[in-house]
Amino acid sequence: MGYSYSSAAVAVSVLVVALAAAASGQLSTTFYASSCPTALSTIRSAVNAAVAREPRMGASLLRLHFHDCFVQGCDASILLADNATFRGEQGAFPNVNSLRGFEVISSIKTQLEASCRQTVSCADILAVAARDSVVALGGPSYPVELGRRDGMTTNQTMANTNLHPPTTDLGNFVTSFAGKGLSPTDLVVLTGAHTVGVAQCTNFRSRLYGESNINAPFAASLRASCPQAGGDTNLAPLDSTPNAFDNAFFTDLIAGRGLLHSDQELYRGDGSGTDALVRVYAANPARFNADFAAAMVRMGAIRPLTGTQGEIRLNCSRVN
Ligand code: HEM
Ligand SMILES: *[C@@H]1O[C@H](CO)[C@@H](O)[C@H](O)[C@H]1NC(C)=O
Ligand SMILES: *[C@@H]1O[C@H](CO)[C@@H](O)[C@H](O)[C@H]1NC(C)=O
Ligand SMILES: *[C@@H]1O[C@H](CO)[C@@H](O)[C@H](O)[C@H]1NC(C)=O
Repeated sequence: MGYSYSSAAVAVSVLVVALAAAASGQLSTTFYASSCPTALSTIRSAVNAAVAREPRMGASLLRLHFHDCFVQGCDASILLADNATFRGEQGAFPNVNSLRGFEVISSIKTQLEASCRQTVSCADILAVAARDSVVALGGPSYPVELGRRDGMTTNQTMANTNLHPPTTDLGNFVTSFAGKGLSPTDLVVLTGAHTVGVAQCTNFRSRLYGESNINAPFAASLRASCPQAGGDTNLAPLDSTPNAFDNAFFTDLIAGRGLLHSDQELYRGDGSGTDALVRVYAANPARFNADFAAAMVRMGAIRPLTGTQGEIRLNCSRVN
């Protein structure tokens, strides 16, 4: 069965948008306009500086927001560090020795605590830093809905359950995203975030040595840096232009140059699944940009804490 732009799919995604809008009813793009007017410019300057120092940091910050939102909602639970009695999300399989950018968020928080004490949540910092990272790498801008509050707890099991390994097949991702109120189109467009950043050999080795729907010269060149044994942490770009937010991820998929099994699952090349959507985004970068921006707003609205729920953390790494 294909996931195409059928009228039923459009109707379902319109409904999903409506539900997401209702769920995020208490979020607003002007939330800090009077309580902390410098919040957005402070975050943007810090992100721009970090990305100028190291372009990959833009990718790392974008991924942090995704991993936050998919586990218990966008509540900065991903930032809670382990201590003597607490094992949080950071030690979960998809996160450990992989997530980066915590120090950038912490430095932004320190600046915001100096200018606007206990006002800007860590969850909102993650959402704005993700948008500013996309822009810094050449992608689309969009207004970020704000007013999320920070969660008081989380656990490792939830992260392992909600974030699937890259060996997972398309159908499981469709189900997993549906569980977050996100459509198959959202799945394809949000995974387009792999237009930036890199992955470790351990996450794509099985694709190089066991799969047939991979471009042969592409696989051969990757095997040199990702041997069958050893080199687990060696890095390879997720698309052919890892420092540019463009639509090359999709043209690469059509050429059999998806790095992760889960990426290539979006384009199997037999017309099944989400093949047609990948062709749309490969042919139309403006459409990818517009749909990505809209999907990021929906992802950012997954189960936010608002009003008097949760708290505004003083230090993003721990509850107050
Ligand atoms: C659909 C399921 C997804 C899977 C299975 C997946 C899996 C992965 C894996 C395995 C890596 C490499 C990690 C490493 O080797 O250390 C990665 C990197 C990345 N992911 Fe995903 N991802 C998915 C969706 C997304 C989404 C929805 C976003 C954002 C909206 C995203 C953003 C990123 C970024 C930007 C990187 C590069 C990070 C860096 O270079 O530091 N991913 N992902
Ligand atoms: C983690 O949280 C989930 C969901 O709230 C819960 O079902 C599970 O028992 C918790 N696990 C641990 C180890 O605390
Ligand atoms: C925040 O808390 C963490 C964990 O307790 C600690 O290591 C870090 O130094 C704190 N950061 C600041 C800026 O106080
Ligand atoms: C450990 O961290 C958790 C989450 O931040 C917090 O709830 C708990 O109070 C901390 N415990 C100690 C002993 O600091």
